[in-house]
Order: sequence, then structure tokens, then C-alpha cells
Amino acid sequence: MIRNLTKTSLMLFFLSLLSTTHLSGQQDIPSRVEALLNKMTLAEKVGQMNQYNGFWDVTGPVPKEGNSKMKYEHLKQGKVGAVLNVRGVENVRKLQEIVVKESRLGIPLIFGQDIIHGFKTLTPVPLAETASWDLEAIQRSARNAAVQASAAGISWTFAPMVDISRDARWGRVMEGAGEDPYLGALVGVARIKGFQGDDLAAPNTIASTAKHFAAYGFAEAGREYNTVDVGTNTLHNIVFPPFKAAVENNVKSVMNAFNILNGVPATGDAFLQREMLKDRWGFKGFVISDWGSIKEIAFHGHAKDLKHTAELAAKAGSDMDMESYAYINHLEALVKEGKVQESLLDDAVRRILTVKMELGLFEDPYLYCNEEREKRWLYAAEHDVAALDMAKKSIVLLKNEKQLLPLAKTQQKIAVIGALANDKNSPLGSWRIGSDDNTAISVIEGLTKYGKNFTYAKGADLITGKANFIDEVKINETDRSGFAAAVELAKNSSVVLMVLGEHGFQSGEGRSRTKLGLPGVQQELLEAVHAVNPNIVLILMNGRPLAIPWAAENIPAILETWQLGTQSGNAIANVLYGDYNPSGKLPMTFPRSVGQVPIYYNHYSTGRPVSEGNVFWSHYSDEANTPLYPFGFGLSYTQFEYSDLSVDASNPKAVKVMVTVTNVGSRTGEEVVQLYLQDKVASVVRPVKELKGFQKFSLSPKGTKRVSFTLTEKELGFYNTKGKFIVEPGMFEVQVGTNSQEGLSKSFELK
Ligand code: NOJ
Repeated sequence: MIRNLTKTSLMLFFLSLLSTTHLSGQQDIPSRVEALLNKMTLAEKVGQMNQYNGFWDVTGPVPKEGNSKMKYEHLKQGKVGAVLNVRGVENVRKLQEIVVKESRLGIPLIFGQDIIHGFKTLTPVPLAETASWDLEAIQRSARNAAVQASAAGISWTFAPMVDISRDARWGRVMEGAGEDPYLGALVGVARIKGFQGDDLAAPNTIASTAKHFAAYGFAEAGREYNTVDVGTNTLHNIVFPPFKAAVENNVKSVMNAFNILNGVPATGDAFLQREMLKDRWGFKGFVISDWGSIKEIAFHGHAKDLKHTAELAAKAGSDMDMESYAYINHLEALVKEGKVQESLLDDAVRRILTVKMELGLFEDPYLYCNEEREKRWLYAAEHDVAALDMAKKSIVLLKNEKQLLPLAKTQQKIAVIGALANDKNSPLGSWRIGSDDNTAISVIEGLTKYGKNFTYAKGADLITGKANFIDEVKINETDRSGFAAAVELAKNSSVVLMVLGEHGFQSGEGRSRTKLGLPGVQQELLEAVHAVNPNIVLILMNGRPLAIPWAAENIPAILETWQLGTQSGNAIANVLYGDYNPSGKLPMTFPRSVGQVPIYYNHYSTGRPVSEGNVFWSHYSDEANTPLYPFGFGLSYTQFEYSDLSVDASNPKAVKVMVTVTNVGSRTGEEVVQLYLQDKVASVVRPVKELKGFQKFSLSPKGTKRVSFTLTEKELGFYNTKGKFIVEPGMFEVQVGTNSQEGLSKSFELK
């Protein structure tokens, strides 16, 4: 009897579990989507494919036709599927209520925003985070960003940007993971996992977007929105892999791109969106256009008018229109005229509704509208702890002669020079729409909190006036009136900390530059101070690689601190005084001069790679081919030694590579062991080396570790010109070391 009772109650328990699952609706999404789709009018389908900006000009030009009144009417009529740049529980709730209560089918909106490196609490800009090579920390950053953004009503982020770029002139390199597709794919996936978590229907997870599909990072001459022409080798092996990895890891949306790719605007390109993304890779989410990128198809010279752009984009697989007003104005007519098949709209709407259901918005359209959560999580103290950890890990030590760093904790007379040292805004970097200005801990505050005495002199302003997200930054090119005081201070100090670099708004979207030196009068200031006291620690703040050959030659210690976000000054103080031993490695090559750009480590050999004593080899007459600092480079306060590289290629599907790493210095430190591979002879030429593995770990002094890597077909193969993945037997060379240019190497044959 008791046994039976237990059985029955167990059965009831499982049944109740099933019905909870059913209620939460995650199991039968396809049939629910189908049922809803069947009820929708053509106009309502087009509505789901339409996204409006909130009612202010924040991430692009406001379209002339768009006025708030019309947008409100459209909300009521079910003609809006998503909104961007509306945030805060109160605002989000207001719009959601209109749609849910007043539109015929009450299909909830999703609210998108660029959550690029934090929402309120800001973590380092993505390029900087990548320098940590710490995937767990990067995932945690995205997780915390999602917790805050979701608490403020956001259900969808336009991140991560997984565009590979080799061009430091392009301002958006700050938003990506640098120049390498292997690292870029892993970092992109870490971010997606952080944003989307394990359960997309939870109130603190948000849908994420891999962007910009495709090859946006290859804009000619690094000029924003410029033409892109890349061959199949680069497209399949460099541009696509991070997107493919995003799809394999269940990213919910993909944003297309502003650029043309080999003559076709990406937004109207069926090869990219239908063939590669949806057919070959099996992407199940939806494609969002970039801001106005549908209408720009016409400006590129590929469509005759807005209606034509709508036709091309819909056919090519752009599922949702961000602020072009092309779909809302023309898609219905195009279907009625037989120019666009309704089944294409059905496909797009299915994808959009699926993501909305997966987010749990049909069970609770106000899932993200909880005032308590909003109060609890914005600027949450525990997120400061994680942001500080991330910021410390993102710093790269570029030079440390005579062991100037870490600074001695006692004695020294410290001078701090540079406008950026006293700046609470610039270290926040670009792309921080939801956050508040002047919320970074400056270097001066960081040092003060650390309990250090120092004297500060600005030396010179970096900018004139105020910088913001949409206007050009005005750089001080003339005012040197503060030089004398700075030089005087330096004369009377034992160590000078000079905080120089770019303003946070000098990188980001629309921020291409032709010069990569220190902007304004900063180089002159550096040289003037150096003339009286060469004991300088240069603390660089920048959102892209800089060309600083003079500093690299003359300044004894250089710390690359990028734009580290809210905890900037605290992280820098910790590293300066050795409480954290720097462990970052460059995710992008630093050039000697802008003329070398694009410069990247995974280049091809060329037919004339070395000098034979005359000029007829691939080189510059006025500059070396080598970079100032290579990809993967970064020092530590300790030293690591590599020995005993071994390769076992007896199993061609699992080549074993082992190396011993020893901490031969006097401090505990973390090393990023990097494995590079070259396929020596291939049917499509392979780069001189490609990153195919890395491991980061800590070793105490004298500590040693035997590190092992397994190279499978995934690492050994490549995409041919048809985009087919192949592995070719033959000779390979493996290099394992501390950066892309230094390491032990060995050849092996793949049978
Ligand atoms: C334009 C940018 O290219 C894109 O990355 C961003 O997500 C949208 N604006 C929306 O802000």
C-alpha cells in the first residue's frame, strides 16, 4: 500500500513537472509559433520584422520620417516587433503595455540595446578584455552585463561584435576581439554564453547578437563604412569562423553589415545570409539589419529606391529592419505584387517569434520589468569586484627595463603627469549608452585610494571642450601652457607616471584615424619630461593599437591599460605596485608606423620573403617589416622559460604537443602559453603561422608545468576556396611560446 502510494505520488510529481515545463512553454515552441503565425495578417507579419529606435538620436542618424506619434500608432497596430534604445523598467513597461494590451494579437516586443562592455558598471572595452586571454573572466563580464541590462528592461544585446580586424585605423577594433579568428571565436562564444546563460527564459539572461555579417572589419584603409573586398581564403578562414562558432553556440541573432562585400551590400547578400548562415550553418535565430543598412543598399548603387532595397533585403534573408523604414513601408505591397514570396516573411517571423518565446516573453511580457531587480542590480557592488578583476587581467606590460616596475611601496617621490590621469570619463571608453558619465575611478583616485603620495601636473589637455558619443572629438593641438609645470615637477621626482593616449571617444563607431601616434601635444610633452627625467612609466590608455616607436625606444617602462572601465584607476594602481602581476597579451599587432597597417601575424609568406642583398624582396625601404609589439606579446614581473617541446604525430587525428614551462623569476605570475601551427605546403596557401591553442595558468617561483595540447582535424585543417573544410597530409611546423614571435618549434609530418 505504502509502496503504491509512493509510486502514485511520484507519478503525480513527474506529471506536475511536465505540466510546469508545458506551462513555461519551452517544449512546444515550434507548434505555438506555427499556431500564432496562422493567425497573423500580412501587415502583422511585416510588423514583427520592423524595429524602431526609441525616440532619441543615440546610435545613428534619426530618419526624417520617423516621428513618435507614428511610432506609437504602429505599436498599437502590431506593426512593431522590436525596439532599441529604450531602457529602464518604467519605459520598457510603458511600451510593452501598449503592445500587449492594445494590439490585436498582443505579441510582446523585445528590447534591444548595445550592451558592449557592461551596462551601468563598465568593464574594459572588448579589445582590452580579450588581452586577458581569460575566457572565464570574459564570460563573467558578459554575464554581469546581462544581469544589469535585463534588470533595466533590456532583453536583447547587439553584442558580441565578432568582426576580425587587422587595421588599427578602424575605430571599431575596440569593440572586437582583435586580429585572430581562433581567439576571436572563443572570446565571442564566451560572451554569448555570458549573455544568454543556461536558460534564456530566466529573467536575467538576454539574447545576444553576433555582428556584423560579414567582413565589416576589413573596410578599405580602415575608413568606417568603406568598401570591402576580400578573397575566399580570407573570407572562409578569417572572417567566417567566429560567426560559425557563434551559430554553433546558439546565438539568437546575427546582425548584417553596412559594407559591400565583393560588390554586393552585405544586407542584400543572399550568399551570406541564406546560403552560408542559414543553409550551410543551420542558423535558427533571426538576422537583424544594421541601423539603416537596408536603405543604404540604394546608396551603394545596388537598388533603385527604398522599395527595391526592401525587396532585396527580404529575399537575401535580412529578417528585421532596424530604422530603414523599408519593410514597414513597402514589404506588404511587395508581397501583394508577387515580388517577394510570403513564405519568406513566414520564415523571418517564425525566427523572430521563436526567440521571443525562448526568452519567455509570451509567458510574461513583463519578465524584464521588475523594479526590485532594477534597484538591486544596477551598479551592484559585487559587479565592481568582477570588473576590477577583469580590468587587472586586461593590462599588458609592454616594456620593463631595469625592473622599474613594480614600483617600490616605500620611498619614491612620485610625479603623475597627463590629462588622462585625472579623467573619470575617458577610461570608460566608447559604447556605453546605458551608463553614466564620469563614473570611472581615475588613476589619481586609484593611487590615492591605494594610499600613495604623489604630485600631479596635467602637462596639457588632451581634448578641448567635452567629448561625447556622436560628435568628433576635438584634440588640443596647440596649448602647451602646462608643460613648464610638468617638467619642473618631473625634475624633482624619482619616478614619473605619465598617463597618455587616446580619449575614450576617439575609438568606437565612426572613429577612423589616419594617425596612430599619441594624439595632440602628448608626444611633445613626453619628450619634454623625458629630457629632464627619463625614469618614466608610460601608462597608455587607448582603444586600438598605437604606433609609438619613440616611446618603445626611450621610455623604460610601458603599461598598456586600454580603456578599463569603471575600475580603471584601482586596477592600474594594483598593477603599478605589484599587487597584481600583469598577465595580458596583445590581441592585435602594434605597428611601428601607420604605413605598415594592415599588419598581422598570420600573414602569408609571399614569393620573396627574405632579402638576397638587393631591393627585390617583399619589404619597405624606410621601415622594417616586423611590428613594434607582436600579436600575443606581453611581459610579466616574473620570467618564464620554455623547454622540452615534443610532438607525437602517430595518430593523425590527435597530434600531441607538449612543452615544459618554468617560472624562473622571483614572483608568482600567470603565463599564456600559445601554440601556433603552419601547414607548410597546401593546395590553398596557409599563413606562416596560426594560433591553434593556448592555456593560461599561474606558476609560483621555480614552479614548473608540463603543458599539453591535442591537435585534432579542427586545428589541422582549413577551408578551401569553395568553403569546404579539408585536412591535407604533409609537413607541419608547430611553435609553442610566450607570443607569436618567440617560442620553441618543431616540424612533424601528418600522415
Ligand atoms: C550601428 C552599429 O553598427 C551597430 O553595431 C549597432 O548595434 C547599431 N548601430 C545599433 O546601435
